Amino acid sequence: MSHGLTPEPMTARKSPALKGVVRVPGDKSMSHRAMMLGLLARGRTETSGLLEADDVLATARACEALGARVERHAPGQWSVIGAGLGSLLTPRDTLDFGNAGTGTRLMMGIVGGHDVTATFDGDASLRKRPMERVLAPLRQIGAEVLSSGEGGRLPLTLKGARDPLPITYVTPMASAQVKSCVLLAGLNAPGHTVVVERVVTRDHTETMLQGFGATVTTVDDPAGGKRITLHGQPNLVGQKVAVPGDPSSAAFPLVAALLVRGSEIMIEGVMLNPTRTGLFTTLLEMGAQISIENHRLSGGEAVGDLVVKASDLQGVEVPPERAASMIDEYPVLAVAAAFAKGTTRMRGLHELRAKESDRLAAVAAGLAANGVRHRVEGDDLIVEGGQGQIAGGGTVETHLDHRIAMSFLVMGLVSERPVTVDDTAMIATSFTGFGALMNSIGARIGD
Ligand code: S3P
Repeated sequence: MSHGLTPEPMTARKSPALKGVVRVPGDKSMSHRAMMLGLLARGRTETSGLLEADDVLATARACEALGARVERHAPGQWSVIGAGLGSLLTPRDTLDFGNAGTGTRLMMGIVGGHDVTATFDGDASLRKRPMERVLAPLRQIGAEVLSSGEGGRLPLTLKGARDPLPITYVTPMASAQVKSCVLLAGLNAPGHTVVVERVVTRDHTETMLQGFGATVTTVDDPAGGKRITLHGQPNLVGQKVAVPGDPSSAAFPLVAALLVRGSEIMIEGVMLNPTRTGLFTTLLEMGAQISIENHRLSGGEAVGDLVVKASDLQGVEVPPERAASMIDEYPVLAVAAAFAKGTTRMRGLHELRAKESDRLAAVAAGLAANGVRHRVEGDDLIVEGGQGQIAGGGTVETHLDHRIAMSFLVMGLVSERPVTVDDTAMIATSFTGFGALMNSIGARIGD
């Protein structure tokens, strides 16, 4: 699929044991939020370890367009001089979010809670993604959609509320983006904005808001899940934010090292927030040799160094309630499952259909192209493991999806024949230097 540029196919070949110590780029979720809270705070926010990938750069440009001063000082070290809550500017141009669903949906919350009007657009993948999930609560807050593509899709012009209302919103799907959108819109409303989520999702917005001076309380909801209450119109003050390594990016060298015989690597400084570690739990259940060293805190989040050794994996059943904590990791888990002994059943994957691509369909097609026995039953993906042996030899369509590209490149490091992915340009949306990092530990990824 095209992103308007020349596609950059790449091939991964059977590799010798992976060895070495690596550090993956900063967490994408935290990087978006650090920029956005920097925009809304008074004074200076300084980051270290910020992810400098296309998705976050699009958010940085949008923050500038809304009135922040954003500067890069050194790799990962950025400063944001905030416009301040309630003092945003109406952007002169369209906010182009490229491939980034998180950037778009969270920024819609910020615009929706302010008396400004902004047009949101993105690439062919982003234009296909559902936005109604954030527009519904934003209308309740008082925002108005002036124009949009079919079914509320991008390109979309949003007129924010002049006097945003505090609402109580029960999220209809497990989505940290929807939760965060409502909380960010509620910042500029008086009184309490409440989000109830039946399934717990990543909580970086809540944690970072507290770090910037807001009062956010989370309690168990009597009907299940969590009830998050934000006290409106807080005094947000610029902060120093240290962004740890992205567990969703660490997943790729991690699974590669588990699968390539004789491997042993260390991945330093990986964020270990429990709302993000479902993949690690699942791999441990499958018999993976992963140990965590040097537990510490960074940017308000738990962090550790992962030591990973090649392992014989066993198929497992992955329960649906774990999906939110590993939603971005199913494609690479499917690759791990393809090499395991026995069957892996991944249950409750309906949200995978609403990602950068229909990831359930894209993973199934990639498995089929490489001789992996599997089936999709409703929202479940069932993979029959090849006990260390997969034919490979396929070309995988990535559909503008970075994680599909990286997952199947990992497959090619272990399969009998090389695996080609049709385009790797989108990897730059989340994992700058992926190929170089993988090849530095011995992987054979190239033309
Ligand atoms: C994200 C939430 C998840 C995830 C995405 C990042 C976030 O999306 O897939 O990569 O930073 O809030 P959903 O909220 O749509 O599940």
